[in-house]
Amino acid sequence: MLPDDLLAALRNAQHVCVLTGAGISAESGVPTFREAQSGLWEHYDPLDLATPEAFLRNPELVWRWYRWRRELVANAEPNAGHIALARLAGLVPKLTLVTQNVDGLHQRAGSSGVIEFHGNLFEDRCFVEGCIVEPGVEDSVPTCPGCGAQVRPGVIWFGEAIPERALHESFSAAAQCDVFLSIGTSSLVYPAAGLAEIAVKAGATVVEINPNPTGLAALFDHAISAEAGTAMPALLEATWP
Ligand code: OAD
Repeated sequence: MLPDDLLAALRNAQHVCVLTGAGISAESGVPTFREAQSGLWEHYDPLDLATPEAFLRNPELVWRWYRWRRELVANAEPNAGHIALARLAGLVPKLTLVTQNVDGLHQRAGSSGVIEFHGNLFEDRCFVEGCIVEPGVEDSVPTCPGCGAQVRPGVIWFGEAIPERALHESFSAAAQCDVFLSIGTSSLVYPAAGLAEIAVKAGATVVEINPNPTGLAALFDHAISAEAGTAMPALLEATWP
């Protein structure tokens, strides 16, 4: 049973801001990062795979891991949670969808204007210039046709800055929205986790959707303890019956 004040806040919202994390893609079969047994970081050390230093040390290993993730995601399909969020855009005057995911499943579900906070798994970027490079022959470590430097996956690694525009747009959306939904994220990685805190301070109705409520849940107005693929369609159905 969803609380009436939550449904009213969503129905009357002029601007809804959503932050998603790996949990929203879990039901598509994409592993999350921190969950025991299935989480990617349970099996791999982020410092060996997701830092610029790791890439410089062993670019072949880093590329092998990212190619494995590309294949996994290419074989996955958006789930009911992604689809409900794409529908939500047509139900509210304004929706800002910020994702920490690099899998492109929101876009494949029909969402547009998605802010990719941590980049995109399928982009190739020049390690030196940062420009997008057209994928060429699948060399073990591709090189930039412009400058000859090594090419890297277009994701944001630990210790790297969030793209300026993504940061600016998402922080201003969090500060201006009436309802903020935090879906499928452990809320441990900043600055993304700070978005919900900004929304709380700005007086928005802040809601967490996660089968395992996080440390930030106590800050929020509502914590829906359920999987996104069930909770999101149910939330839409109850708000706009
Ligand atoms: P985490 O793996 O830290 O957290 C995933 C969250 O999803 C957990 O809190 C789970 O309880 C929850 N979850 C699992 N299944 C779910 C479901 N079906 N519906 C809803 N929630 C579910 O992933 P993130 O919070 O996204 O960054 O991690 C943040 C960042 O840390 C990632 O973007 C990545 C990682 O290191 C970089 O690589 C820079």
